[in-house]
Amino acid sequence: MCGQWHSADGLGRKSRRPPLALLVLSVALPVRTGTIFPVVDESNLSEAVAALKRAVRVVVSSGAGMSKESGIPTFRDALEGLWARYDPAELATPEAFQRNPDLVWAWYIERSEKLCTVQPHAGHYAIAELEGLIPEVVVLTQNVDGLHVRAGSRDVVELHGNLERFKCSADCRGRPTVIDLSTISYSKDHAPPCPYCGARVRPDVVWFGELLPPEAVERAFEEARRCQVMLVVGTSGAVQPAASLPVEARRAGAVVIEVNPAPSFITPTAHIFLQGTAGTVLPRLVAALRAEQEESP
Ligand code: OAD
Repeated sequence: MCGQWHSADGLGRKSRRPPLALLVLSVALPVRTGTIFPVVDESNLSEAVAALKRAVRVVVSSGAGMSKESGIPTFRDALEGLWARYDPAELATPEAFQRNPDLVWAWYIERSEKLCTVQPHAGHYAIAELEGLIPEVVVLTQNVDGLHVRAGSRDVVELHGNLERFKCSADCRGRPTVIDLSTISYSKDHAPPCPYCGARVRPDVVWFGELLPPEAVERAFEEARRCQVMLVVGTSGAVQPAASLPVEARRAGAVVIEVNPAPSFITPTAHIFLQGTAGTVLPRLVAALRAEQEESP
């Protein structure tokens, strides 16, 4: 049934909850949608503007490429990507944290502190500006850097958590047991104990093999089914469940527009591929939409 998830309870009840596999962070197989979903045009800005102009609900789905021009590296860039330089199995899994909490802590604290030195760029601001041009805009992001919120986007769903938030690794007072680092003493190279139970404090980000925040992933799929346009920016589409959002949107009838300097696993699902960086394409796209609306509201 298009646009509906089926429950795994074996009773045949329909549920709008994504299946369990899509609640866990995992590396995706290439998303294949077959030849019935051809890429319509390589860089057709005016077609993208026309689709946005017709839309009442727009979803922006962003990944690490969105923040690259703010100075935050992506993950899978062959040379500079974080996973080209670091092993995710040693840094981004619960097992890694159990084995070596201080190493994982130090890596995340360093990344967290770097956020104070970066700023949203023109692409983030362009997305925030969409809210003045389209009745409903939701940002679904895999990014943990908070830059969409800092740029002024008001409805941001953080699928993979937030690098500036920390929690008890045992979630001793409920999920998540958020710990405000300004209330405890800690050093950069030692994961501090939870003030309530003594388990280590960890970043409130989603690691491989972990469940995504269920309310975030449910909202994300709901929004994917409801939107008329999904604008996918700066993601390789290599990680589930975020990689399934454009597929879900397209199945439900949305126009999928991808912004990326290079084709990705998302590209076969996109109707319109706008080749270029977030910082160059998004301001042009939003300016063209604004001009079009002013000309013929
Ligand atoms: P990736 O590093 O896998 O992909 C980044 C994408 O951004 C690629 O498709 C690039 O071509 C594109 N890109 C590069 N520069 C860009 C620019 N200036 N503007 C627009 N696009 C650009 O990052 P994600 O797809 O976000 O999870 O990765 C998904 C998840 O995998 C991350 O959230 C992270 C990682 O492991 C965790 O750490 C848990």
